Amino acid sequence: MQYTGIKNKTALVTGAGEGIGLAICELLLKAGANVVLNDVDEELAKKASSKLDAMHTGTCLSFFGDAGNIETINKMVDFTLEKFSKIDFVVPNAGITLFGDFLEFTPDSFQKVIQLNLQGAFFLAQRAAKEMIRQGIGGRMVLMSSQVGLRAYHNLTAYGMTKAALQFMGQNLAYGLGEHGITVNTIAPGATLTERTEKEQPDYEGTWSKLNPNKRVGRPEDIANTCLFLLSDEASHINGQVIPVDGGWTTAGKYPEDL
Ligand SMILES: NC(=O)c1ccc[n+]([C@@H]2O[C@H](COP(=O)([O-])OP(=O)(O)OC[C@H]3O[C@@H](n4cnc5c(N)ncnc54)[C@H](O)[C@@H]3O)[C@@H](O)[C@H]2O)c1
Repeated sequence: MQYTGIKNKTALVTGAGEGIGLAICELLLKAGANVVLNDVDEELAKKASSKLDAMHTGTCLSFFGDAGNIETINKMVDFTLEKFSKIDFVVPNAGITLFGDFLEFTPDSFQKVIQLNLQGAFFLAQRAAKEMIRQGIGGRMVLMSSQVGLRAYHNLTAYGMTKAALQFMGQNLAYGLGEHGITVNTIAPGATLTERTEKEQPDYEGTWSKLNPNKRVGRPEDIANTCLFLLSDEASHINGQVIPVDGGWTTAGKYPEDL
């Protein structure tokens, strides 16, 4: 099925030089949207956006900068409006995963996690909502939580807290912005095979194929497909929801230490 309401829309996706964000940009471009692809790694952002731009009908531009920084967020939205004259979709996808024992977790690590995962998503959503209300044509936001915002997990307390908070933020924004035709939903990805996760854990794919009830690891496309649906017209009555895309892990999946 081809979703409607994507063509000629303008999307801003953060943390999209690789991994889940990149897969979301690719599907959006394939469906005819114009995309601003943000990443904190300038080379990665440029390389990804020029590759996608050449492959698809929509236009892809890169915006380099820290998606947790409020000044950068405002510049990123200004850039989107300057280049495409409107903003329809926002996906604050950039997030940092810092593992660490609760008893040893440092204030510096805590601030890093909060700054990107919460401050970044909050102020991007705030600025985008102001523009969407001013435009008067509605809009869509998809927040990026995690399965560990739904179930406790070893050494991810701060990260899990931010991801749980994003789910609550999504509910509140849906309640407050619905009357403006803006929907806000949250995806809670399960363990997803990306360049980063592959490096973080030995045999990531093999391990998660054993832990997930559906016996496979998640792929960036699994998350991107759900995101595209939530951005489409077909999902216009879904608002304030959290959608786990995790192969069933949050039902009763096992932990790595159970193996
Ligand atoms: N991969 C997973 O298994 C998984 C599971 C659950 C939730 N998530 C969430 O999904 C989102 C994407 O995950 P991923 O694994 O694709 O991400 P990732 O860690 O691979 O990062 C993707 C991109 O974000 C960029 N980035 C990092 N910090 C940034 C910043 N401050 N500003 C802008 N860009 C920045 C990186 O350079 C990278 O290119 C994150 O919010 C993550 O917490 C991922």
